[in-house]
Amino acid sequence: MTSNWFKLVMRLTKVQIGRNVTLKGVPVIFNQSGAELTLGSGVTIKSSFLSNLVGLYSRTIIVTRVAGARIAIGDNVGISGATIYARKEITIGEGTMIGGNTKVLDNDFHPIEAEARLANDTRKIGTRPIHIGKNCFIGCNALILKGTELGDGCVVGAGAVVSGKFEANCVIAGNPARVIRRLAVNG
Ligand SMILES: CC(C)(COP(=O)(O)OP(=O)(O)OC[C@H]1O[C@@H](n2cnc3c(N)ncnc32)[C@H](O)[C@@H]1OP(=O)(O)O)[C@@H](O)C(=O)NCCC(=O)NCCS
Repeated sequence: MTSNWFKLVMRLTKVQIGRNVTLKGVPVIFNQSGAELTLGSGVTIKSSFLSNLVGLYSRTIIVTRVAGARIAIGDNVGISGATIYARKEITIGEGTMIGGNTKVLDNDFHPIEAEARLANDTRKIGTRPIHIGKNCFIGCNALILKGTELGDGCVVGAGAVVSGKFEANCVIAGNPARVIRRLAVNG
């Protein structure tokens, strides 16, 4: 099912949408007042169980949680049943493919220190921006954690737990994710 009516809902919450955005199934896309959420042209978002035959456990969820947060998803990005949740900033370069059930979280959701956590002190939630380059390929069930930077052309293995900075054209995998090889670049 292509959920064109949902594009109207996105416009109401001031999501900036490029041309030819394709929705398969109904995502959850929430843009907090005062935040910025951009979907480039040619973006595909899959949200129903069989819209990606890897099998999606949930809809795609894209959330700017607080005023001032920013999510920028470049042209021709593909997203399958992923969660992309920003308190500060998440950028995803054009042509990148986000595999089934991946989570991209620029924050910890709760403070690390028990006192702040019990007091629900959201100012103490650990938060660092995430930048994912162009033409990356993120395998299914990866976790991309706060502060991660992936250079252009990186490949992330299925199930990887990614934290840190990785240069362009690396294949990274495991928990914690490490470089398992480097890709030759043409030209
Ligand atoms: C990361 C990946 C691309 C690597 O493929 P590859 O370059 O052909 O690598 P290989 O299969 O030769 O494995 C190389 C080494 O990395 C390890 N490895 C490969 N993928 C791994 C993963 N996801 N997690 C942990 N280790 C992994 C292998 O065990 C092997 O280790 P060894 O050298 O000690 O024997 C591939 O394994 C992968 O995870 N693909 C993603 C599939 C996917 O999720 N598709 C999207 C569905 S929506």
